[in-house]
Amino acid sequence: MFPLLGVNIDHIATIRNARGINWPDPVQAAYIAEQAGADSIIVHLREDRRHITERDVQILRQTINTSMTLEMAATEDMINIACRLIPNYCCLVPEAREELTTEGGLDILNCHTKIRSMINKLIQSNIEVSIFIDAEEKQIAAAADLGINMIEIHTGLYAHNFYNKNEREKFLNRIKVCAEYGSILGLQINVGHGLDYHNIKPIAAIDLIREINIGHAIISRAVIVGLDKAVRDMKSLIQRSRIL
Ligand code: PXP
Repeated sequence: MFPLLGVNIDHIATIRNARGINWPDPVQAAYIAEQAGADSIIVHLREDRRHITERDVQILRQTINTSMTLEMAATEDMINIACRLIPNYCCLVPEAREELTTEGGLDILNCHTKIRSMINKLIQSNIEVSIFIDAEEKQIAAAADLGINMIEIHTGLYAHNFYNKNEREKFLNRIKVCAEYGSILGLQINVGHGLDYHNIKPIAAIDLIREINIGHAIISRAVIVGLDKAVRDMKSLIQRSRIL
C-alpha cells in the first residue's frame, strides 16, 4: 500500500493575503488538489491568522470531499474553534508568533495534563487527534499515553540535512526507528515538514508511514510549472486586445 498524500494549502492564502483581496482562494486550490489525487487537505489556522482564516476553514469544511485536517496550537481558543467547525482531524502543533513556519514538534512531556484535557474535548466532538512531534521515543510514548490514535513525525531535520549524507542517514534512521516504535504502540504514523521533490523518496519508502503531508514544495512547484502558461495567457490577451 502506498502512503497517502495530504496537501497543505496554507501558502495559497499567503499569496492572497499579500494583496488583501480574495484570490487566489484556498477553497479553489483544495478542489484542484483533490482532483489531482490529494488524499486529504490540510490547513493551519495560526493564532496570528497570517494565511488561513476562519472563513477559509468554515467554507473548506463544507467543500472538501476527501478529508480535512486542521493544524492548530494547543490553546483553549483554538480548541473551541475546532469544536465548532469539526474538521475530520486536528493536528496539534507548537506555535511561536515570530517563527516562519512550525519549527519543531510539540513537547508533550512538558504539557501532558493540559494537552490531555484538550484532546478529550476534541475527541468528544468526534474529531480525531494527531500530535506533531519530534522523532524521539519519549515523545512518542507520551503521545500514546494520551489515548490518541495517530502522530505526525517531524521530518524537518531529515529534510534540512538532506544533502549531507551522514546527517541525512542519521535522521532518516531516527524516523524509521520512531515509526516502528509508534506502530508497536498502536499509533498511525504520519510525517511532514520540509519534504520536497528531491528528498521524498526515502521517506515514502518507509512502509509503516500512512500519510505524508506536504505544503511549501507543492505550492512552490505550482507557481514555477504554471508560470509559463500564466505569462502566455496574459501575452495572448494583450496581443488580441487590438484585433477588431
Ligand atoms: N506538517 C505540519 C504539522 C506542519 O506544521 C507543516 C507546515 O505547516 C507541514 C506538515 C508542511 O510542511 P511543508 O510546508 O514544509 O511541506
